Amino acid sequence: MSNRLKSFSLLATLALGLLLSACQSQKPAPAAPAASQTASSADPWWKHAVIYEIYPRSFQDSNGDGTGDINGITSRLDYLVALGVDALWITPMYPSPQVDFGYDIADYTAIDPQYGTLADFDRLVSEAKKRGLRIVLDLVLNHTSDQHPWFTASRSSRTNPKRDWYIWRDGKGPGQPPNNWLSWFGGSAWTFDPQTDQWYYHYFYKQQPDLNWRNPEVKKAMFDAVRFWLDRGAAGFRIDAVSRLFEDPNLHDDPILPGKNAYGDPNIEHKYTDNLPEVHDVLRELRQLVDSYPGGPVLISEADEPNIAELAKMYGAHDDEVQLPMDFQIADVNKLSAADFRRLLDEVENNPAHGWPEYFFGNHDQPRPWDRYGDGKHNDQIAKLMAALLLTPRATPQMYYGEEIGMRTTAPARKEDVKDPVGKLGWPKDKGRDGERTPMQWDTSKNAGFSTADKTWLPVPPSAAKVNVAAESKDPNSILNFYKRLIALRRNNPAFRDGSYISVNRDDPDVLSFLRKNPAAGDSVLVVLNMSASPHTLSFDLSSEGIKEKTVRLVLAAPELSSAGPISLDSVTLPPFGVLLADVH
Ligand code: NOJ
Repeated sequence: MSNRLKSFSLLATLALGLLLSACQSQKPAPAAPAASQTASSADPWWKHAVIYEIYPRSFQDSNGDGTGDINGITSRLDYLVALGVDALWITPMYPSPQVDFGYDIADYTAIDPQYGTLADFDRLVSEAKKRGLRIVLDLVLNHTSDQHPWFTASRSSRTNPKRDWYIWRDGKGPGQPPNNWLSWFGGSAWTFDPQTDQWYYHYFYKQQPDLNWRNPEVKKAMFDAVRFWLDRGAAGFRIDAVSRLFEDPNLHDDPILPGKNAYGDPNIEHKYTDNLPEVHDVLRELRQLVDSYPGGPVLISEADEPNIAELAKMYGAHDDEVQLPMDFQIADVNKLSAADFRRLLDEVENNPAHGWPEYFFGNHDQPRPWDRYGDGKHNDQIAKLMAALLLTPRATPQMYYGEEIGMRTTAPARKEDVKDPVGKLGWPKDKGRDGERTPMQWDTSKNAGFSTADKTWLPVPPSAAKVNVAAESKDPNSILNFYKRLIALRRNNPAFRDGSYISVNRDDPDVLSFLRKNPAAGDSVLVVLNMSASPHTLSFDLSSEGIKEKTVRLVLAAPELSSAGPISLDSVTLPPFGVLLADVH
C-alpha cells in the first residue's frame, strides 16, 4: 500500500469511527474493509458496494458554462468518499448531439468536449482510484445517434457497406411503415428516409437508430469500444436498454393492449422487440470479455423486466451474463406498501438463478423518491424510510445523486422551458425527465454551488435554499447524515455485510420487518420499517431463527428514540414511517 493510500485509509477509519459514535448504537463492531478493497471472485467487490449514479450535466460545473463536467466530478470526489459510496456510475459523456442528453452517441471512444477531454477522464479514474472509488460507465449498445458516422454512411445508399449495420425495411405501402411497432418515446418506431426510399427502425427517438445486432461487424465494433474503456480503467458498465438489442426478423405486428399512452398512441405489448433470446448470446460474450480484465469489472443491466423469471435470465443460465440486473419491479412500486415490497423482496431472494440483487429507487428517468413516495406531510421521514429500504436488504444498492439530501422532483412549469423531448411530446400528461435532472444542490452560494454561470442548463430548484449538502452536513438529523450512518453500517456490521435476509412478521400489512442474520456467531440485525402514517406497536417471536434473547439493543432509529436502552421484542413501537434497526442475539 502506498503511503498516500495508508494515510487515506487511516483517515477513513477515523472518520468511520466518529460517524459510528454519532449513531445511537454505542456497540463497536469489527471494522470491515471498504468494498473497494475486496475483489476476490468468490466475494466480488460489487456485492458490498454502494453504487452512486452521476448525471454529469448536473453534478458539478467546473468551467462556468452552466453544464456539469468531468473535472467537476473529480472536484467532488472527497464528498463522495465521506458519503461512503464505492463506485460511481456516470451516465454517457461521449460525443453526442444531446437529443437524448448523451444516450444518442456519435463516437463511442471519445469524450464530448462540453464534459472535458480524455485526459480529464483519465485523471478522474486515477483520482477516484486513489480514494478507493471505481468508475462504471454507461454502455449504449442498442442504438447510436443518427449523427454517428456509421449511420450517416448507412443512410447514404442501399449498397453502402454500413447499410446493414442498422435496420432498414420497405414500407407496407406508400407512407405506411413496415409494421405497427411503436417508439418508447411516442409515435411509430419507423422513420422514412426519402434518400433511399426505405424506413429505419428506432426503439427510442428517430435520432437514435437501432443497430442491427445480427450483423457480426456491429458486435465487433462495440466490443472494441468496451475494450477501449476497460483499458482506461473503467470498472464495468451499466448496459442501456439491453433487452431491446434484437427484433423479430419477420416483423410481426405487436399485440395492441387497451388504452392509450401519454403520446396518444395505443398501448402495445413490445412482444417482438423486447427480450428476444439472442440478447443472452451477446451478454455471455460480453461477460467473457469483461472477465478477461483484472479487478472484476461488473456488468449492470438496465432492463425493466416484466417479472422475476425474465429478470433472473439476465444472470445467465450458468451465472455467465450480467452480475447485477437492476430491479425495476421493486423500483416501480410507486407507493409505500409493506405487502408489495415484502412479496418482491422475497421473489428476488428466491430467484431461480440465485443471482445477487440490485435495488434502486431513483435515477435520471424516474421522479425522485422524496416526492414519489412522500405523502406531502412526512416526506423527510419517508426519505429516511426509503434510504433504509435501499441500504439494509441483502443486495447492492444503487442511489442517484441528490437522493442523499432529499432533492425534490422539480418539473418545468411551462412547456417552453422543457429540455427533455419526452416532456415536449408528452406535455402536459408527461412533463418529461427534467424534474429529476436538476443541478446538484451543494450550498447556498450562486446556483447552489453547482456553477458560476449566469444560466445553468436546467434551473436550480428553489428548494436549494434549505436542501443542500452544506446545511445538511451540519444537521445531525438530516437525511444526508442518515444516509451516511446507514452506509457506514452496511460496510461495518457483519450482519449487513454478509447476513442472509429473512422476512419476519409476514402478515403485517403496514410494517415491513426482516432479519439480516449473521452467518457467524455474532449478532444479527432486525430491520423494522413502518410504511404507514399510523404508529404501530409490534411483537416479534424470533425463536425459530435461533434468537433467544427477548430484549434487543438499538442500532439506529429514525426518528431517534428518546431512550437508547434495551427494547423488549414483545413491544416494539414505531412512529409513523418510523425506522428501527436493532441488534438481536
Ligand atoms: C434508458 C436511459 O436510462 C434513458 O435515459 C434513455 O433515454 C433510453 N435508455 C434510451 O437510451
